[in-house]
Amino acid sequence: MTTNDKSKHADTRITTAGRSPKTNFGIVNPPVYHASTVTFETVDALKEAEQHRFDRVYYGRYGTPTTFAFEEAVADLEGAEHCISVPSGMAAIAVSLAATLKSGDHALITDSAYFPTVKYCNTFLKKFGVEISYFAPMATAEELKAQIRPNTKVVFTEAPGSITFEVQDIAMIADIAHAHGALVMMDNTWSAGYYFKPFEHGVDISIQAATKYIVGHSDAMLGSITLNDRDLYEHVKTVQVGMGYSTAPDDAYLGLRGLRTLATRLPRHEKTGLKLAEWLAGHPAVETVLHPALTTCPGHDIWKRDFTGASGLFGFVLKDGPSHGDMARMLDNLELFAMGYSWGGYESLIIPSDPRTMRTTYNWPYGQPVLRIHAGLEDPDDLISDLDKGLKLLTA
Ligand SMILES: Cc1ncc(COP(=O)(O)O)c(C=O)c1O
Repeated sequence: MTTNDKSKHADTRITTAGRSPKTNFGIVNPPVYHASTVTFETVDALKEAEQHRFDRVYYGRYGTPTTFAFEEAVADLEGAEHCISVPSGMAAIAVSLAATLKSGDHALITDSAYFPTVKYCNTFLKKFGVEISYFAPMATAEELKAQIRPNTKVVFTEAPGSITFEVQDIAMIADIAHAHGALVMMDNTWSAGYYFKPFEHGVDISIQAATKYIVGHSDAMLGSITLNDRDLYEHVKTVQVGMGYSTAPDDAYLGLRGLRTLATRLPRHEKTGLKLAEWLAGHPAVETVLHPALTTCPGHDIWKRDFTGASGLFGFVLKDGPSHGDMARMLDNLELFAMGYSWGGYESLIIPSDPRTMRTTYNWPYGQPVLRIHAGLEDPDDLISDLDKGLKLLTA
């Protein structure tokens, strides 16, 4: 079996990449290697292993055949040469930014970024002398150019934003960043690397919280850093290892297992998400629905141009009126939508989130917070009746 035969279709490669049953007694899945020490029989073998530490088994923190298999499969999914696995999505963000910025540099971050990314930039990176500023997610090329500084080294994007769902024009952002010699990073978790191919749009480092759709079952924390440039890969990997972020083999195994069914799960999340979004859009209590596949979402045309589908995460905003207590009553009484952070698992979730406490470059145009939904794999009609019952409580 060839593991990443590029002549095969993407959905085929999702089932084959990272697998080598021939060297594994014919067993379909790679074994879970628990390893810290790796021993070598000669001094020469030890030295050779050190020279090839980025690609071969050397010491547990650098990875094991289990993490390598996961990394190979994610690199293939996103269309890149290299992937580095880390213990969470947040670790992927932290390592990538720490590796590419130094004191005196400037990083331009989308204002729609996952809020802990913003907090990491405002605390950790600033403490080490990195200048941080934010750009409006739907900034025009001219507005973006005006925010580039001579010392801008990184432009960080996320599309769509995981709370406010603006779909950014990644190719436009990449052109501007590259013209100024800056790297482009993207948090590509929403598309799972399945519905958006970051390297075809100029991204240099694609980050995923594999915790979400790749793991897919809400039972492991995992992150991936995917990139093409060999020197950049070795540099980021050195920082990952230097900061001590080694991925647990069981979690890499769960990531790989989740990945094998991604091409089946995501279209179902998409179908259910769209059905809920369209139903909500027609509900009299709803002001707007922020789903990239609906025209009401900022950047919908970009989504149509650049993405091949939508995952199951979207938001909606209620019309003015309900108090905090009304909304809490509605949310507390939902049966199938649990409240909790994260998303991408098989179960539906809902969470209130207030952009007014997070955004600095623009005013949230609505009077209410976002209610963010993750559409799980339940029957969509049951989910709709649950939401219907909840929304009725608003007016009861
Ligand atoms: C868009 C996005 N990026 C990154 C992360 C961080 O991932 P993790 O929870 O695996 O650290 C999250 C988590 O919710 C997220 O929603």
